[in-house]
Amino acid sequence: MTQYPNLIPAHGGQLINRIVTPEKRQELMEKAESLPKIQLDKRALSDLEMIAIGGFSPLNGFMEEDDYKSVVVDMRLKNGLPWSVPITLSVSEEVADLLTEGSLVRLDSPSGEFAGVLELTQKFTYDKVHEATNVYGTDEEKHPGVKVIYDSGLVNLAGPVWLLERHPHPLFPKYQIDPAESRKIFQENGWKTIVGFQTRNPIHRAHEYIQKCALEIVDALFLHPLVGATKSDDIPADVRMRCYEIMLEKYFPQNRVMMAINPSAMRYAGPREAIFHALIRKNYGCTHFIVGRDHAGVGDYYGTYDAQHIFDKFEPGELGIVPMKFEHAFYCTRTKGMATSKTSPSTKEERIHLSGTKVREMLRRGELPPPEFSRPEVAAELAKAMKISEES
Ligand code: ADX
Repeated sequence: MTQYPNLIPAHGGQLINRIVTPEKRQELMEKAESLPKIQLDKRALSDLEMIAIGGFSPLNGFMEEDDYKSVVVDMRLKNGLPWSVPITLSVSEEVADLLTEGSLVRLDSPSGEFAGVLELTQKFTYDKVHEATNVYGTDEEKHPGVKVIYDSGLVNLAGPVWLLERHPHPLFPKYQIDPAESRKIFQENGWKTIVGFQTRNPIHRAHEYIQKCALEIVDALFLHPLVGATKSDDIPADVRMRCYEIMLEKYFPQNRVMMAINPSAMRYAGPREAIFHALIRKNYGCTHFIVGRDHAGVGDYYGTYDAQHIFDKFEPGELGIVPMKFEHAFYCTRTKGMATSKTSPSTKEERIHLSGTKVREMLRRGELPPPEFSRPEVAAELAKAMKISEES
């Protein structure tokens, strides 16, 4: 059982740890040259890491066919436990043909370093369109999550994995706080209710507003920006992290907010990903999870509140983490403050909110987003980053 009994258990009851011991690492290093190997892309490497540190508990490896099929169709593992997004490792048929079930496969990072091993239990083919339609609600290739499926190999390799070593994150070592550690910190701080916040965008005032509304209710806020693979036009993680640092220093209570990186890759699966994101934060020790407007959405594939409604498909308490659902927040020029339609009498014309695309366009034109949308320090940081990226 968990070392920290007052905290909610990890998903499935046990926090998974698939990082090898130093002795086992030595043994694997000696075998390294003789093992068949495959090279992971950035997303597969982050999946390996998330499995190893327990972020994807109860998964201890890449999914076998019965779990995969059950997740795609029913949003559950074959044992009935909720799980909404397939975690698979796809390779081409040519590569799969060279590998034998029952053998150990070496997993290399995108830069060719020995990163871990897969105890290959199964190879199986899968239906890409079926996966796309069920998980993403569309089979269109222009959906970035669907495109990843279409670009992947035809065979999934399944089985338990081991990570060779937990390296400090090259950009954010200070914020690399894995689930076992975040649970320990929550416990030491005496926090009983902790709300997790997923984000892949630079912080704006609507984010700040819903974070603080949630913080009025619970003991602590766990800011958990995603720093794994994102689509190319999303703002890079280092810029987003700098914006957060600025905000934390000036606009948040230091003793009730903690920031850590979420190493996983974005799927853009909207509602299904909201469940996935909540389960990840449960594994980090959160009791609550913020789901706002169009959570993990892209384009207009999902309805504004679909990612909230999907939580109703599970029995109360079944997920083991409580969603905190927020309406679309904006700056209300009538009441001169942040609000949602639940709290503001404003007309549409009296509401200020900008889309991510609009903000990027403004920055490109050299304009700063207004203070009603973005704190000025964050706007300045974004403008600086935009200038540097255009010059390089
Ligand atoms: S996401 O892809 O990670 O969901 P983003 O970083 O923009 O994108 O959103 C982080 C969280 O804030 C999500 O729960 C999202 O629904 C919520 N959110 C973003 N903008 C707003 C808004 N204007 N009003 C309410 N919730 C919002």
